[in-house]
Amino acid sequence: MSNKIVFSRLYALIRPYKYQFMLSMFAALVVAGLSGAQAYMVKPLLDKIFVEKSTYFLSILPIALILLFAVKGFFYGLNFFLLEKIGQNVIREMRTKVFDHIHAQSLSFFHRTPTGELISRVISDINFMQAAISTAVVGLLRDFIQVICLLIVIFSMNWQLAMISLVFLPAAAIPIVKFGRAFRRISTKMQEETAVVSNIMHESITGAPVVKAFTMEEHESKRFAAQVEKLFQTIMEDARYRRIQHPLMEVIGGFGMALIIWFGGKEVIAGNSTPGTFFAFLTALVMIYQPIKAVSKINSTVQRGLAAAVRVFSLLDQPADITSKPNAPELPPFHNSISLQNLQFSYDKQTKVLKDINLEVPAGEILAIVGPSGSGKSTLANLIPRFFDIDAGNLLIDGHDIRDVTLRSLRKQIAIVTQQTILFNDSIRNNIAYGDSERAEEEIRAAAKAAHALGFIEKLPEGFDTVIGESGNKLSGGERQRISIARALLKNAPILVLDEATSALDTESEREVQIALENLMKNRTTFVIAHRLSTIKNADRIIVIKDGRIVEEGTHDMLLAAGLEYEKLYNMQYQN
Ligand SMILES: Nc1ncnc2c1ncn2[C@@H]1O[C@H](COP(=O)(O)OP(=O)(O)O)[C@@H](O)[C@H]1O
Ligand SMILES: [Mg+2]
Repeated sequence: MSNKIVFSRLYALIRPYKYQFMLSMFAALVVAGLSGAQAYMVKPLLDKIFVEKSTYFLSILPIALILLFAVKGFFYGLNFFLLEKIGQNVIREMRTKVFDHIHAQSLSFFHRTPTGELISRVISDINFMQAAISTAVVGLLRDFIQVICLLIVIFSMNWQLAMISLVFLPAAAIPIVKFGRAFRRISTKMQEETAVVSNIMHESITGAPVVKAFTMEEHESKRFAAQVEKLFQTIMEDARYRRIQHPLMEVIGGFGMALIIWFGGKEVIAGNSTPGTFFAFLTALVMIYQPIKAVSKINSTVQRGLAAAVRVFSLLDQPADITSKPNAPELPPFHNSISLQNLQFSYDKQTKVLKDINLEVPAGEILAIVGPSGSGKSTLANLIPRFFDIDAGNLLIDGHDIRDVTLRSLRKQIAIVTQQTILFNDSIRNNIAYGDSERAEEEIRAAAKAAHALGFIEKLPEGFDTVIGESGNKLSGGERQRISIARALLKNAPILVLDEATSALDTESEREVQIALENLMKNRTTFVIAHRLSTIKNADRIIVIKDGRIVEEGTHDMLLAAGLEYEKLYNMQYQN
């Protein structure tokens, strides 16, 4: 992405605030101009009050000074506040935009993009962008004008002295430029190493059960300490440079100052100049230093902001690969059949995971899908709600290609319960009614009851209001699963996908969950992938998938009698 494009896209972000932005720039100009005036006032202060002892100036100057500071303060505040407001508005809009964009992506996007990366896009990169926009653009302008105003003061006071100091100012800037490059390199390194520290932190905390089980605390501790040490070394490298840079600048500055005092003092003693002129000159010179230093810093802020902007914009440029077509119609309520015709699918457009699947599932059927691990059962189930798009063939619901109807209307008709329960750190009530805050209390209770969850919920001190912890970790596996089933029950979708919903459970909870599932399957069209014989036996039909193909289909008894794949699987997996 070229700088020009990045700039024009950044400009587009602040365009809605154009007038506020211009006002804030104007305020910055006033502040810069008044800084010059501030330095200029030193002249009458010294010459009129201290040398000429004028009482008139004694009464005027303090008032003028107060006015000057008041006006400057007002404009400074205005400049700061407007910039902050514009910047924070941009941040808020960008965050929401990136968040929505991320959630518009398909599951494969989430599979290939690390979570930490997405979080740093939304949190830190957008901050860097904002810093580049507000601090840099307007800060640069303010500092630049300030330098010009102060230069005018310097030259109007004594142009010969001004020439001398102009030789020294750049000299004082040499350490800034020389060290600036090192600082930038070290700052990138610091950021990367801090990221590794937080990664280790994140991994070891989420992996705490495994760390404990393998008594790897010491190993993790060493890993962490090593990384913290690396970060420490980088920070010390930075400190070592700063240790030299600052004194070096002071010494060069001192040299310049000494020269100026010597020349300037000579002029004053010779009567060619007044003390006021000299001190006004000196004040302006000291004041000019700050903005010059700031300008050098702004460059790195801009560079960092631009790099961040490129990352954020490229994320925004990734098209959502699974979306509804424009003006797509809604999928009418499901009533007839789901049909898979010559269906082929791969995750990477190369290795076929599903090959030539043909399947007709009439409404109301319970279809069991069995097969060895990795044969493509979950993949098949995930195609129904269009989590992934098929490569070839057709997937029709009541004759509608699912790519031609709105995603919303399709997914509204499908409920999914998987082995891995996904719950939110919220109340049980909100977890059951997820996505539908309007549901009545009785409905939620009824769903919990049918899911065999009411018993344990009512035993909790806060009942339905109990907040269940991150991913529901305050509940047992069976309890979590029954909450997910209650959620699916409440959704009351005609099509149901159960992907090993009971495999993570012990026999005791499994029995409870099994009853809950049977309630859930009533009057629905169900795709069930199960490791339990009982679930499969009740199915109307069983299909056996092997290497992405349907190799057998029929009822339990038929398939067992045939003595092929199913019998093998049965002997291996279900014989207990
Ligand atoms: N998100 C994914 N990206 C790439 N390959 C995948 C993905 N999910 C599953 N696979 C591969 O697809 C094949 C079928 O997986 P899956 O449908 O999960 O099997 P099953 O549910 O039958 O155990 C496996 O070889 C697996 O490695
Ligand atoms: Mg699976």
